[in-house]
Amino acid sequence: MAAKLLSLLLALMALGGGTLERYADEMSLGGNLFLVNRTYPVARDYVPRDLTAPKVQGGGEATMMRREAAEALEALFAAARDEAGYTLIAVSGYRSYGRQAAIHERKVKAVGKKAALRVSAPPGCSEHQLGLAMDLGCKGHTELTAAFGKTPEGAWVRDNCWRFGFIVRYQAEWEPVTGYADEPWHIRYVGREHAQRIHEMEIPLEYYVAQLREAQLTYLSEKE
Ligand code: DAL
Ligand code: ZN
Repeated sequence: MAAKLLSLLLALMALGGGTLERYADEMSLGGNLFLVNRTYPVARDYVPRDLTAPKVQGGGEATMMRREAAEALEALFAAARDEAGYTLIAVSGYRSYGRQAAIHERKVKAVGKKAALRVSAPPGCSEHQLGLAMDLGCKGHTELTAAFGKTPEGAWVRDNCWRFGFIVRYQAEWEPVTGYADEPWHIRYVGREHAQRIHEMEIPLEYYVAQLREAQLTYLSEKE
């Protein structure tokens, strides 16, 4: 715990003043750090402007992402293949508000509201609407279950996705913060610099964004 706090402190100290303004932009809608959850929903009509299908296994209509994220995903898949001989499969990327509503409703009908809320975001509350999230699988494991996390491919994704700008967004120990159970298949693009810091700090995106906001407020008030 002390080591975690120290690394957090060091990372925040490393934030140069000039870069903080850039972070403000990244935390806005359309930025790579934009936070979506049940507390902070995104507008019903929000559709990212630069959606594209990544050229990867499983890539197509159901796995679109914003361009920068799609290119990073291609690099991630290529590294998995070249470095480890693994074939990852893209399963679900951008989802519109309406599509998320249908998926969520189906889950509620299947397992009840409380259980559904641990694994499925209500419409407007899903990162998939940002075009910055991807659900992954591998051969024999495309059903988006905990089993993916136990495969060599899932372990490789967990250990390496930060190098390409992604974080494993929902982890069991963070459930009280994120509201979601372990999802080893769901990766979220935040950009390389932030992904590396979040990976090193081992904190959920909610905490990282809160720390950046605090650092920004301090920086701006000192500038006045
Ligand atoms: N499964 C994640 C939480 C979503 O529905 O966005
Ligand atoms: Zn997902």
